Amino acid sequence: MPDGLFIVIEGIDGTGKSTQARRLGEWFTAQGREVVLSREPTDGPWGKKVRESAATGRLSPADELKYFLNDRRQHVAELIAPALAAGKVVILDRYYFSTMAYQGARGFDPAEIRRKNEAFAPVPDLLILMDLEVDAALARIGGRGDTANEFEKRETLERCREIFLALKDEPFVRVIGCQGSLDEVARKVRAVVDELAI
Ligand code: TYD
Repeated sequence: MPDGLFIVIEGIDGTGKSTQARRLGEWFTAQGREVVLSREPTDGPWGKKVRESAATGRLSPADELKYFLNDRRQHVAELIAPALAAGKVVILDRYYFSTMAYQGARGFDPAEIRRKNEAFAPVPDLLILMDLEVDAALARIGGRGDTANEFEKRETLERCREIFLALKDEPFVRVIGCQGSLDEVARKVRAVVDELAI
């Protein structure tokens, strides 16, 4: 059984990760590969709790971090590790780099978050960092930064982007500028995937 291929797509909200993850999955399927497309937070019990907290009031920083880690532990054990062991292509929309960025922006040390995750979560073969200026990302998601809440969101996303970009020199990381059309960005995604020579 060949080893699977593990690709993660990350970036701040509004960069178009989900669309590109789906398109990349379709491309691999057309190549005859078996694809598992997934996302975090998952639809499992822990992921549901963090999603619900967006509407019902945000969790404490410590609980939020704990819930994301629990969600990921389950995701790795039940879906990611078995799919990779079966030789499938696993494509994730967000993974532990989002915890480094978002919970890092809430005050935790990104390096410490990374260490905790890499104790149980496999490092991907390729991390595609979808990069976009925060203003452009906010324009896409419809928040202009005028209200206090949106201002806070802007500050948070600036910090998240910084933490993501600090990963840019790691050997498994490729940064893609996401200003262009969906097709342009998809071509850039394909180009970095082709580099993997699969
Ligand atoms: P998102 O991918 O935007 O989900 P949806 O499009 O379904 O709303 O993820 C929801 C939010 O969760 C997003 O703002 C980033 C955040 N998040 C974290 O704070 N930590 C994490 O570890 C993950 C995976 C996501």
